[in-house]
Amino acid sequence: MGQVEWAYGLAKDLLKAELPRRWAHTQGVAEQAETLAPILGADADTLIAACLLHDIGYAPDLVDTGMHQLDGARYLRDVAGADERLCRLVAYHSCADNEARQRDLLDVLAKEFDQERQDLARALTYCDMTTDPDGRHLDVRDRLAEIHSRYGPEHVVSRSIAAATPCIVSSVRAVEAALSDVRQAGAG
Ligand SMILES: [Fe+2]
Repeated sequence: MGQVEWAYGLAKDLLKAELPRRWAHTQGVAEQAETLAPILGADADTLIAACLLHDIGYAPDLVDTGMHQLDGARYLRDVAGADERLCRLVAYHSCADNEARQRDLLDVLAKEFDQERQDLARALTYCDMTTDPDGRHLDVRDRLAEIHSRYGPEHVVSRSIAAATPCIVSSVRAVEAALSDVRQAGAG
């Protein structure tokens, strides 16, 4: 079985019945990954698989620390036996080191997982941060506003997203620039 097929089955089992909206979001995030094939080459499947798995830490059975990026990555490492790169991408997706700091888990996260290559980490952040909770695609600024309004100003996720905003926006813009370069090269 290929990595994408495996990730799809695992994420569907963990999310579809219990968290259908999260599953809709996940599928939209994976669709975005497919659009990045021109800039990712051989790593495209790894990114699609990471997109499918990025939010499994929200599945009720997986919740442990409450930081979904860490809980999901631990499940991938300890239970699912996933590729190390997938664990790393999920652990740090969408600039999660900011949320780890807010939750006092940065040392734990850094001790357990290394960071993945920056272009892949940015690509995952792009896919997540340009997809709304229903799986529709939108600009990163609208996505950030949506997260703030969904969680409210006091929530740890809103505080984390505020701290992560420069990292998230620069990741998205870097991927958009890489895509535009590839398209121009193709047109010229
Ligand atoms: Fe997400």
